[in-house]
Amino acid sequence: MRLDVVTIFPEYLEPLRHALLGKAIEQEILSVGVHDLRGWATDVHKSVDDTPYGGGPGMVMKPEVWGPALDDVAAGVAGVELESSLPHLEKPVEPVASSYTAGERDERPLLIVPTPAGKPFTQADAQEWSHEEHIVFACGRYEGIDQRVIEDAAQRYRVREVSIGDYVLIGGEVAVLVIAEAVVRLIPGVLGNRRSHEEDSFSDGLLEGPSYTKPRTWRGLDVPEVLFSGNHARVDRWRRDQALLRTHAVRPELLENVELSPADRKVLGLE
Ligand code: 6GU
Repeated sequence: MRLDVVTIFPEYLEPLRHALLGKAIEQEILSVGVHDLRGWATDVHKSVDDTPYGGGPGMVMKPEVWGPALDDVAAGVAGVELESSLPHLEKPVEPVASSYTAGERDERPLLIVPTPAGKPFTQADAQEWSHEEHIVFACGRYEGIDQRVIEDAAQRYRVREVSIGDYVLIGGEVAVLVIAEAVVRLIPGVLGNRRSHEEDSFSDGLLEGPSYTKPRTWRGLDVPEVLFSGNHARVDRWRRDQALLRTHAVRPELLENVELSPADRKVLGLE
């Protein structure tokens, strides 16, 4: 998988190269390019934003900067180690009506635009996007990006505006770290242990219950007895019960989309 990020704060994306994602890069499962949007600014001040039409607070990011940046990144003109040199400013990318026709495989890369006004990002999105070949992230700051950039980008990308939760961040950079980690860990081979994603919270629509390791007693607190029973069916049933009870306590709305067996209903006190 190839990830490209366009941002005015490239250093903010450094964590992409560490830990789990860094390992995926070393294994050559993943390659990452981080591009400074200012590399596409054309004026002496390298400005990337301007005042909003219609008035109001804050600034809006300029289409004449974002347009060429996304064109170049889609075309692979902006190389990994490019960062912000300017050769691409001299050769504009040919405009294309659409690089895909109905009926054939859509090879346009995925463009993810993090915004609190987007559709909520879910584990199902992460699962789906873990099969993508090329994902580009466009990090907006201030009050966002001129909407025509998003509209126009659909010629070269499959565009998704997504939010990571109901709160407001200053910019999309942290959201990119969140989404990239959720997606990359699902690429086969990245997380050594295959079984572990099938049992993730959300994969069965439930939150995961508690887990324990040695020692058996710690500060007077015992590990639940059932976990020593050696009876896998009993352990599985107990884990299911714990997941149901935790979900009911903290995210009851999630249970609306879970098929409950009679045993499940009983543990929740619904029988
Ligand atoms: Cl994806 N971006 C920003 N800027 N704020 C957010 C968000 C994204 N998701 C929640 N708040």
